[in-house]
Amino acid sequence: MSYVIGIDSSTTATKAQLVDPDGNVVAVVSSEYEYETPQPLWSEQSPELWWTATCEAVSGVLAAAAIQADQVAAVGLTGQMHGLVLLDRNGKVLRPAILWNDQRTGAECDEIRDRVGRDRLIQITGNDALTGFTAPKILWVRNNEPEVFARAAHVLLPKDYVRFRLTGEYASDRAGGAGTILFDLATRTWSPEVLAALDLEPDLFPRTFEGHEVTGTVTAAAAAATGLAAGTPIVAGAGDQAANGVAVGAIDPGVVGLSLGTSGVVFTATDSPAVEPQGRLHAFCHGAAGRWHFMGVMLSAAGSFRWFRDTLAPGEDFGDLAAAAGAVPAGSDGLLFLPYLTGERTPHPDPLARGAFVGLTVRHDRHHLTRAVLEGVSFGLRDSFELIRASGSADLTEVRASGGGTQSPVWRQILADVLETEIRTVSTAEGAAQGAAMLAAVGAGWFASAAEVSASWLRVDPPTVPGAEVAVYNDLYGAYSNLYPALRDTMHQLSASTP
Ligand code: XUL
Repeated sequence: MSYVIGIDSSTTATKAQLVDPDGNVVAVVSSEYEYETPQPLWSEQSPELWWTATCEAVSGVLAAAAIQADQVAAVGLTGQMHGLVLLDRNGKVLRPAILWNDQRTGAECDEIRDRVGRDRLIQITGNDALTGFTAPKILWVRNNEPEVFARAAHVLLPKDYVRFRLTGEYASDRAGGAGTILFDLATRTWSPEVLAALDLEPDLFPRTFEGHEVTGTVTAAAAAATGLAAGTPIVAGAGDQAANGVAVGAIDPGVVGLSLGTSGVVFTATDSPAVEPQGRLHAFCHGAAGRWHFMGVMLSAAGSFRWFRDTLAPGEDFGDLAAAAGAVPAGSDGLLFLPYLTGERTPHPDPLARGAFVGLTVRHDRHHLTRAVLEGVSFGLRDSFELIRASGSADLTEVRASGGGTQSPVWRQILADVLETEIRTVSTAEGAAQGAAMLAAVGAGWFASAAEVSASWLRVDPPTVPGAEVAVYNDLYGAYSNLYPALRDTMHQLSASTP
């Protein structure tokens, strides 16, 4: 029997997932690591961590499944998007990678808008300059560490550093490329106009491939380190959100992927390089060849619930807490929660946005607060839904939810009511890793396209249907929407004294 492997180099762990030709996950092994915040707003990680963890996870998964290395038909890569890895001309790492959740590049975002023009930038790349993206990080290094920049010969994304160690090739995927905002969305390659405006040499950047295309094969040295067979094909894969989009089958326009992990993501495919004119939604290339996607990203979704549990109900089980909140009436008896605990991206791209409980009275207890958190996150996700609906890119036909937060029936019901739509959960162990494995299955020739493998492998659960609470939530959504504009100046004033 043959297998494929998806490798996900995320912010906190590298996961290797071994999948059989029917889409069954045979084994998953995860190897964890930390990231550093050496200064306020900074977030960095040593690329060596990803490689060590890849070796551990891949050899672990081969051992756990008790298979021979030559039974692996292909490997697909995915991982945290937007991170900046700089290598010198010999492939040596020049400084720690600057990660997607790093917020130091406000001045460089302004510099990009000045050099390219904000409207033109959105027109070409699909996106405004946000601190999380890769391009402002490159400019930050040029502006602040010119001696490092002078030695830089290769720019890679995190998963592409893993690819480099596996294959010796400098290569990336098109979803990841678009996430740098140096990409021309329509032509699916580096934009000569944006590179010229930013004074960046084109040969700093790797060749890019569609998600299923083979980018190289495992070298003898990498075979010794990982247990894979030398010569095993490595397909391009995709950034984690696009790979998850493949895993949940958000490949044809109209199907929406709703991912409720630490961050919350609302994702839908488009069949043309459509752009939200003000850049409030991200618009990137899809991991599925010839498709694009819109995406709204909330930075603290299940992350807000985790913060709440850790701070106000330490040691309690998430499921028990959410179940108890089910007894509180919809609307939490007049209590609202703003989920901007780590700033926000969609619809308010504002690193200085802050969280809030609004409407507290002495009658509110811990269960009201819990419910308000679940509701506030759901309202935040509705913001992205409204933008996607307004984009007119497609009639939304089905919402497929994944991620830890969707395990709670109470939270699923709140989401169905707030979004006023049926929600179906999908059973994928690790969504992004599964998506990368699916792209590997296409690369191995098992399927003709991402749509075909997803139709064959995906299991969708019965729907959670919107109920009687829809009207309550429609009213409250209006109140929720007024909070950010009303509180923005105060949030900014307070964030000046936040460590
Ligand atoms: C996507 C994004 C995050 C990171 C984290 O735009 O920033 O999903 O990829 O893994």
